[in-house]
Amino acid sequence: MYKEILNKIKNNKIKVGIIGLGYVGLPLLERFLKKKVNVFGIDNDLKKISSLKNGKSYLPNVKNKYVKYFKKYPDKISSNYSLVKNMDIIIICLPTPLKINKTPDMEILYGCIKNLRKFVTMNQVLILESTVYPGATEELFKRLNYKSKLNIGRNFYLIFSPERENPGDKKFSYKTTPKVVGGSTSKCMEIGYSLYKKIAKKVHITKSIQVAEMSKLLENSYREVNIGLANEMKLISERMNINIWDVIQAAKTKNFGFSAFNPGPGTGGHCIPIDPMYLVWASKKKNFLPKLIWASSRLNSSMPKVIVNKIYKKMNLLKKRKKNILFIGVAYKKNVGDVRHSPATDMIHSFIKKGHNVSFHDPYVSEIKIYKKKLYSEDLIKKNINKNDIIIITTDHDNINYKKISASKKIIFDTRGVFKNNKKLNKNIFFI
Ligand SMILES: NC(=O)c1ccc[n+]([C@@H]2O[C@H](COP(=O)([O-])OP(=O)(O)OC[C@H]3O[C@@H](n4cnc5c(N)ncnc54)[C@H](O)[C@@H]3O)[C@@H](O)[C@H]2O)c1
Repeated sequence: MYKEILNKIKNNKIKVGIIGLGYVGLPLLERFLKKKVNVFGIDNDLKKISSLKNGKSYLPNVKNKYVKYFKKYPDKISSNYSLVKNMDIIIICLPTPLKINKTPDMEILYGCIKNLRKFVTMNQVLILESTVYPGATEELFKRLNYKSKLNIGRNFYLIFSPERENPGDKKFSYKTTPKVVGGSTSKCMEIGYSLYKKIAKKVHITKSIQVAEMSKLLENSYREVNIGLANEMKLISERMNINIWDVIQAAKTKNFGFSAFNPGPGTGGHCIPIDPMYLVWASKKKNFLPKLIWASSRLNSSMPKVIVNKIYKKMNLLKKRKKNILFIGVAYKKNVGDVRHSPATDMIHSFIKKGHNVSFHDPYVSEIKIYKKKLYSEDLIKKNINKNDIIIITTDHDNINYKKISASKKIIFDTRGVFKNNKKLNKNIFFI
């Protein structure tokens, strides 16, 4: 049967369904559409479904040109899991958040598996792209196969392939970045290889499914630890009156054994603040507490508070009147509109709590909700800048007019080093 699946992939007769059409699932669906694969999509957000049925993308990096397909074939997109019956390959791209106690929250995946039980049949392929802890894909399969009808490698195929989507990145994309694929058996690996070879330039097959799961956690723990190191170096340098940006610029000239990471107001998004905690949890279950990853995570998540305290100290804010504060950028990183776990929103929250007036400008985010209160992005015009006492740069989007900001002569706190290349720094600008 697996030969039939391989043939279908080869001859572009395969039916691929994606569950979860968010930051990972929708671009993946677009990639298959570009290759003229017969694709289906499931999402429980009815607004997203109706947008796709109208041929409209809701993500800036996914083009309407491809999504229009669903205007022609509205039956291929739904919130109903029965669509799964039509699919040869099911790819799950659902969120894997943390519980309040920072342990894995697998409830969305469990709910999906419960729905899949009704419709999954023999000779289908199940692929997980959501980030999970090692062993989770096979655990999910056990939940799916509680009646033991399915036999991996014989009449069913199980694969894990971590997503490396880097929204907002203009340099690296799936066109140049290899795709890691792990399968439960060699047949699963072969199917995974031929499917992803359709849409990725290079496919790296791991020796086991757990290696693929673990590789994603290594990638994101690597970033967590290195960002943590950059933040710690900044805090040390400050105490020695050394500019961290000059230090990084110097260290970066080393062309071997060093990769530069930047300090900032903390990490955000759906990966760095979360994935390393999946690893910490899984490791603790094996009676080992990872100290380095744990410490980096704590340091990075404390950064918004550390920066707010430094601003208070610098401004002597507590003693003075309430201030008007303008935030530049509220997305968790440059050139995206994603505010999930964004350090800027934590900082805004604490200034509002102290009674200051906060506004923001972000070309990618039109509104945010803080304290049940909605704030709307304001245009970066003189009038809006001038009404403020302080400007805090929290996201270094490329399309912001920083010259206009520095020319305002307002007190500016730069958490991202956007002015690091200025030969002479205005007295009103502080790296913080
Ligand atoms: N965003 C990234 O850059 C990125 C990169 C690599 C890996 N990941 C991982 O990929 C996974 C998905 O992340 P994302 O950023 O795409 O999440 P997302 O929140 O953007 O998208 C998830 C989608 O699933 C839908 N959904 C939620 N519950 C559902 C359910 N029960 N049934 C059907 N649809 C449901 C939501 O409406 C949403 O459209 C996560 O595990 C994440 O850690 C994300």
